[in-house]
Amino acid sequence: MPRPIQANLDLSALENNLRVARRATSARIMSVIKADGYGHGLMRAAEALAATDGYALLDIRDAVRLREAGYRQAILLLEGCFSAEELPVIAEYGLTCVIHSPWQIAMLDAYPGPVKSGKGTLDVWLKVNSGMNRLGFVPQQVAQTMDQLRRHRAVRDITLMTHFANADESRGIAEPLALFNDLAASYRVARSLANSATLLRYPEAHGDWVRPGIMLYGASPFDPDMGEQFSAQQLGLKPAMTLSSRIIATQELRAGDEVGYGALFRAEHNMRIGIVACGYADGYPRHAPNGTPVLVDGQRTRTLGRVSMDMLCVDLSTLPQAGVGSRVVLWGEGMPIEEVARAAGTVSYELMCALTPRVPIVS
Ligand SMILES: Cc1ncc(COP(=O)(O)O)c(C=O)c1O
Repeated sequence: MPRPIQANLDLSALENNLRVARRATSARIMSVIKADGYGHGLMRAAEALAATDGYALLDIRDAVRLREAGYRQAILLLEGCFSAEELPVIAEYGLTCVIHSPWQIAMLDAYPGPVKSGKGTLDVWLKVNSGMNRLGFVPQQVAQTMDQLRRHRAVRDITLMTHFANADESRGIAEPLALFNDLAASYRVARSLANSATLLRYPEAHGDWVRPGIMLYGASPFDPDMGEQFSAQQLGLKPAMTLSSRIIATQELRAGDEVGYGALFRAEHNMRIGIVACGYADGYPRHAPNGTPVLVDGQRTRTLGRVSMDMLCVDLSTLPQAGVGSRVVLWGEGMPIEEVARAAGTVSYELMCALTPRVPIVS
């Protein structure tokens, strides 16, 4: 018997979640599969999402892998090019390139590439910094940059894009949306503004291309505090990843006994705990505190003590039937990843991406 931890990937859940996105918008869908498909595997995610209109990712080698595997949809490099050598590859493989900074335009200028409308010209997405102050041209730079790109011999098609900082927060997107719309009104180009939260919450900001990521993997982009109507289940999303393991030992504690490194949990009364074969070297967050929710034999209980490299402990006080061999769901089916993430002070994105290579994938 191998160590009992595994990540089950339900690819039909990805298909379902893409259909949820489709129903919510008439815009074309650029499925975000960066970070190895949010931890689900690049090629696995690409295949399950084959009905998409495009894929967005970061690494040009991944983009080339997709093309060579036969995917013909748009493939968008979300951070654009990093070096001049990439431009001929981008052109050859028909990739679409975000332009977020002046140094990338300088690189385009130096590109000996073909004349306009010839094979090898580039499609670009000009990124506007609408207030997040991460990537993109500030509004005052947009007219001049747009002009440069429109006249550029190597550029074929231009899409205008932005990314919102607070689409999943109560603050929302009103301000940056108005700013972007004002700018975009001057140009007859396609627009892209929406991540999952914007797609689900702001139909007025769908533009021509939406860019969902997290919702495709079955997690709600919204905090559980935002209410039940924003939960993955209510939104019709199904978790694609279920991380599960089993109890490999139990301990009978007496009042005053302590658990794990640093003795972070101390029993107030006699109780039974289970030791689960899952730790931070599997990708479970070490900073998950006492009380992080977990399922044992389908029943909710809580973690106790500090998560160690290969193990964590769970409370079996209310689960007299549970014991060695009991199935434990850390997140996924029946145990929303958003809840685990919130308890651990992080987001579902980080948990999905943190899964380590030693965890066997079953799909
Ligand atoms: C530019 C851009 N668009 C879309 C997304 C997808 O966001 P989400 O996973 O919240 O849907 C991301 C992810 O960070 C992004 O950086």
